[in-house]
Amino acid sequence: MEQYAIRGGSPLVGEVEIGGAKNAALPILAASLMTDETVHIENMPDVRDTNVLLEAMRGIGVLEKRIDRHSVTLNASQVHSLVVEDDNIKMIRASYYLLGALLGKYRQAQVALPGGCDIGSRAIDQHIKGFRALGAEVRIEHGLIKTRAERLVGSHIYMDCVSVGATINVMMAATLAEGQTIIENSAKEPHVVDLANFLNSMGANIKGAGTDVIRIKGVSKLHGSEYTIIPDQIEAGTFMFAAAVTKGDVTVKNVIPKHLESISAKLLEIGCEIEETDDAMRVVCSKPLRHTHVKTLPYPGFPTDMQPQITVALGLSSGTSIVTETIFENRFKYVEELIRMGADIKVEGTTAIIDGVEKYTGATLYAPDLRAGSALVIAGLAAEGITVVDNIHYIERGYEDFHLKLRALGAQIEKVSSERELQKFKLKVG
Ligand code: UD1
Repeated sequence: MEQYAIRGGSPLVGEVEIGGAKNAALPILAASLMTDETVHIENMPDVRDTNVLLEAMRGIGVLEKRIDRHSVTLNASQVHSLVVEDDNIKMIRASYYLLGALLGKYRQAQVALPGGCDIGSRAIDQHIKGFRALGAEVRIEHGLIKTRAERLVGSHIYMDCVSVGATINVMMAATLAEGQTIIENSAKEPHVVDLANFLNSMGANIKGAGTDVIRIKGVSKLHGSEYTIIPDQIEAGTFMFAAAVTKGDVTVKNVIPKHLESISAKLLEIGCEIEETDDAMRVVCSKPLRHTHVKTLPYPGFPTDMQPQITVALGLSSGTSIVTETIFENRFKYVEELIRMGADIKVEGTTAIIDGVEKYTGATLYAPDLRAGSALVIAGLAAEGITVVDNIHYIERGYEDFHLKLRALGAQIEKVSSERELQKFKLKVG
């Protein structure tokens, strides 16, 4: 099994190019099958989740041509099956985006129930409610979500909770429904806006994405498009916190600073300096880190996907910090790993109370999910001695070349796949 071996203690210094947003790429790739014309996508991250989705799309007849590592053309004129249940697709959360896309275009779909990170119960009732409001029947049978509609008719839908996935899924199906759909209490995340922009570039009529009311006038068909995916807010935020905990000086390039506001605000609060240009952010951390409080919230609040990374930083900040998770109830599993590195953190329900310690010490750690995995890596970069992070397939779901990008910033990190390679790394780094 592959692991990351890390020798902590080197400040990260330099520039890192941020890739396309995984959470925008997934719905955009799925929505590409909503036209029979060719779609060309640029800035696609080459990560496991996008590759699994593309594999599932090829499995139902979508023709894929990889132009290079980050660009792809897709053509869905030869789709021959509306049932998606290959083994890999069950592993990723975004499999359910194929439901909205296929239901919109073909009025029926069957997709394996979604997996993804085990960070909470992750209900799908709002997706189902939205599809039903548009006139579709939805059933769950034999591990599949099955949906079918004679006609899809626009509707007024009030989401009971702010859900990225449900907003995206209903938006896709409603794009090709008859008449107008209004989604109230919709998610406002940058990737929701990116999908709406992509669908509009294919001829959809969607207004209000980025606010909490989205209005969609159904169109009868979509056409081909060329589209560039937005930069990944969470990848950028992860490198920004890596700079903070290693007392480094890192510039994240190819970012949209507006998307990073809640993250940079917290970095400023804990004592880092930030320089912002049009498409880059520089984080310099030369002073001791200070405590703060943070609560995860839907965008534009502090992202739940950055909660483990900020907790790692607060674990090394003077004073007592409180982190409250409001989106996913089971997102503190990595804390026991941090405690093994010397952190002083107590979790009570959805709150973590953190008393900053002076240093972490290297240990062998188990990545419980994608973002927690990346957070344990940055804890290892700050720690004294050697840290080994197990289960890195989670990290590879959402970070492209994570260890190579860190290494280019001066980190001592290697991917190893045997005890022998680990020993070799230990000898090399001394
Ligand atoms: C997406 C992101 C994930 C991120 C999350 C919140 C993708 C592939 N994943 O996940 O990285 O952490 O947004 O920003 O883009 N809920 C319901 N019923 C539903 C749907 C959701 O109760 O039908 C609840 C969930 O249990 C959770 C909250 O709503 O408590 C938010 O979930 P949601 O925004 O849907 O997250 P995902 O789309 O799964």
